Parts: sequence; structure tokens; C-alpha cells
Amino acid sequence: MAHHLGKADWTDNERVQRMARTYSMRYDENFWNAFRSLTGIEPRPVVADFGCGPGLLLVDVAKRLKAHTAIAIDESEQMLSLAETNLREKTNLDSIIIQQVNLDTGKVQVASISIDLAFSGFMLHEVANPRDFVSDVFRLIKLGGIYVVYDYVSGNEERFVQKMIEQGMSEDGARKRYPHMCKHSADDIVSILESSGFVDCHALILDDIRAVVVGLKR
Ligand SMILES: C[S@@+](CC[C@H](N)C(=O)[O-])C[C@H]1O[C@@H](n2cnc3c(N)ncnc32)[C@H](O)[C@@H]1O
Repeated sequence: MAHHLGKADWTDNERVQRMARTYSMRYDENFWNAFRSLTGIEPRPVVADFGCGPGLLLVDVAKRLKAHTAIAIDESEQMLSLAETNLREKTNLDSIIIQQVNLDTGKVQVASISIDLAFSGFMLHEVANPRDFVSDVFRLIKLGGIYVVYDYVSGNEERFVQKMIEQGMSEDGARKRYPHMCKHSADDIVSILESSGFVDCHALILDDIRAVVVGLKR
């Protein structure tokens, strides 16, 4: 069951497959350029994706940043099953940790201070309480580690509606979803990260409707 208009039913197999199919369109060159310029290319041995979906971002980040361990976290069993297959088939990681957690109500069970790079893609707008959630992420990151959030952002409803129509959504559906899917501005996300303890927070806005935001744990 969908909880609100910004959150789909991620146990539905067709939706799970669609997330995987649209991965390279959503994580396009614009995204990777922003990601690289905000995070650099230094190795990050332990990488974690909160709301990992099909796990394809984790595959790419683990390879690019020479990780030995990937932690895939999601509440959807269907997403995690695909993430595990993708990580096993497409990487040579020493360790693949799969955790099924509803991040609104439960906690991730990994040794604290273990994560070098944490990530959430198209997920922050779905969680019930973003500040509580990001504070939990903060606790699991090593000193010197970073958290990267990628999400739709508010500020340009027309561009969002146009993009959703291109992806097959009705105009009415896109307008109804705009306040939910574009729940935060890039500045809001920076402020959520800062209030959870992250420093040196920066945002890059891509094509008016997506932003990549990074924060450092010092
Ligand atoms: C739009 S999908 C994005 C998946 C993936 N990050 C990507 O970009 O391909 C959002 C994901 O976040 C997960 N998610 C949303 N709210 C969650 C929560 N409270 N706890 C755990 N996972 C959650 C969903 O199950 C889904 O897999």
C-alpha cells in the first residue's frame, strides 16, 4: 500500500522492475558529474545505500570508489532481493550486507562508525521524518565519512510536470505528486543535513528539479 502520493508501493514487482530499467536515465551523466565534484574520487572502503532499491547505484559506487563492503538497506523485500542479485553478479566485493529495515520505525544494525560513504537516492521525500532519519544515518558514518542525498527538489513545478509526462505520467497525476515528490528544496536538504550534525554541506542542482547534496561528518 502506498503511504502517500510521494511514496509508491515498492513491493509491486512491475514498479521494482521499472526502477531498475530507469536507473541509467535517473543516474545520468549530469548526476555523476555532480557526484564526482561533490565527493571526489578517493577510495571509500565501506559504502551504504539507505533506500537502495534495485542496488544498481551501490554497484556503480562500489566500483568507482574501490569499496570492499556494500551495505544495502531497504524496507522492500523485492527490492533487496534484486539488489543482492545485482551486487553478487556485478561486483567482486568482499562483503555484501543486506538489511531489511523500515527506516521510519526501525534501526539499521551495523557496527556504528563503520560507513565511509552513505547514500540515499529518490528516497528522502518518502521518509516520515527526514530529520530523525538523517540523524540515524549520521550516527552510522565514520568520522571523515560523507552522506550524499540525491532527490527531486521543489521550485519548478512546470519542469517537474513536463519531465513526469515524458516518463508516462498524466499531467494531473504529476501535479498532484509535485508537493510530495518535490517536498524539499535543495536548501531544505542542506538544512536537514546540518541539523543532523553534518558540516561542509553543499548542494548542486541538476536541471531545476533534481539536486545532489553532500555533508561531512567531522
Ligand atoms: C524511488 S525508490 C528509489 C530506489 C533507489 N534508491 C534508486 O534510486 O534506484 C525509493 C526506495 O526507498 C525505499 N524506502 C522508502 N521509504 C523507506 C523507509 N521508510 N524505509 C526503508 N526503505 C524505504 C523504497 O522501498 C524504495 O526502494
